[in-house]
Amino acid sequence: MPHCNEKTKACFAGKSILLTGASGGLGSSLAKHLASCQVDTLILSGRKKEALDKVAKECQSLSATTSIHIITCDLADKESVRKLGEEALALCGTVDMLINNGGVSSRSDFLDTQLEVDERVMQINFFSGAALAKALVPNMVENRSGKVIWISSVQGLLGIPSRTSYAASKFAVQGYCEGLRAEMASSGVTIHVASPGYIRTGLSLAALTGDGKPHGQMDDTTASGADPNEVAATTLDSVAKGKADFVLAASFSSQVAIWLRLLFPSLLQKLLVKRFDKAKAVKEKND
Ligand SMILES: NC(=O)c1ccc[n+]([C@@H]2O[C@H](COP(=O)([O-])OP(=O)(O)OC[C@H]3O[C@@H](n4cnc5c(N)ncnc54)[C@H](OP(=O)(O)O)[C@@H]3O)[C@@H](O)[C@H]2O)c1
Repeated sequence: MPHCNEKTKACFAGKSILLTGASGGLGSSLAKHLASCQVDTLILSGRKKEALDKVAKECQSLSATTSIHIITCDLADKESVRKLGEEALALCGTVDMLINNGGVSSRSDFLDTQLEVDERVMQINFFSGAALAKALVPNMVENRSGKVIWISSVQGLLGIPSRTSYAASKFAVQGYCEGLRAEMASSGVTIHVASPGYIRTGLSLAALTGDGKPHGQMDDTTASGADPNEVAATTLDSVAKGKADFVLAASFSSQVAIWLRLLFPSLLQKLLVKRFDKAKAVKEKND
């Protein structure tokens, strides 16, 4: 049962919020936590209408006063993203908060990855969020109030092998938001980037392989990842506390690796090569 503490409730209650990737995984947990914070309007977006309907019903049972809307959107399709921004504005007048959560991972070595996969992952994980920010932030600036909350990843801080497309898209989010945050510093609009470690969701199942087909496997790292409800609660609590750029649910080894990248990059590189060689040997043995 989602529970919203007083500080978090004060931050989100009464707001109009657009949430992408709301049909499952971390997004559905975020939706339920937002509902339990008594937000005014919650726009849930994703491609799967039935799954969105189910999440909307659960949210409504948590907050009868929240106005809940569903707008289906394919984040891979620029026109669909444009319409999402337009319809969200038409519904709310002003969208107080944009949560860019919808995303897809990748699972393939560079030599096996078609450029179209890089482009698709970049469009879904980065360009769609940038387009939504461009549609909604000007209004927030006019109102001198608003938030963009972008779900990045530890892999936006650490490029691991066999995830070139995914790492590129999440590094793009980090850089974009760092620049945007500085530009928005005196505008009343705050920019937040959450970088979680592994979360127990369907991310690895839907991850794209080198030819664009879904990976279709629940990876051990994902299966043993953090509870999405806990990650959703920590994300919203951190935003309410004013944290701008934060890592959460990261394993000890991921945290060490992030520091190694800053302090001893050549040591990290050696560890990443070792990881790649080990995965290659396992793959060759299984083939
Ligand atoms: N799981 C992890 O280990 C982990 C770790 C760090 C960061 N993250 C990030 O957390 C966010 C949520 O992922 P998750 O773990 O909850 O994975 P998930 O269970 O696979 O959920 C992904 C969500 O994104 C939506 N989505 C994917 N492709 C889309 C598209 N083309 N158009 C519209 N929506 C699309 C999906 O909705 P539809 O299928 O309905 O379109 C779904 O709601 C992502 O940004 C991911 O990168 C996850």
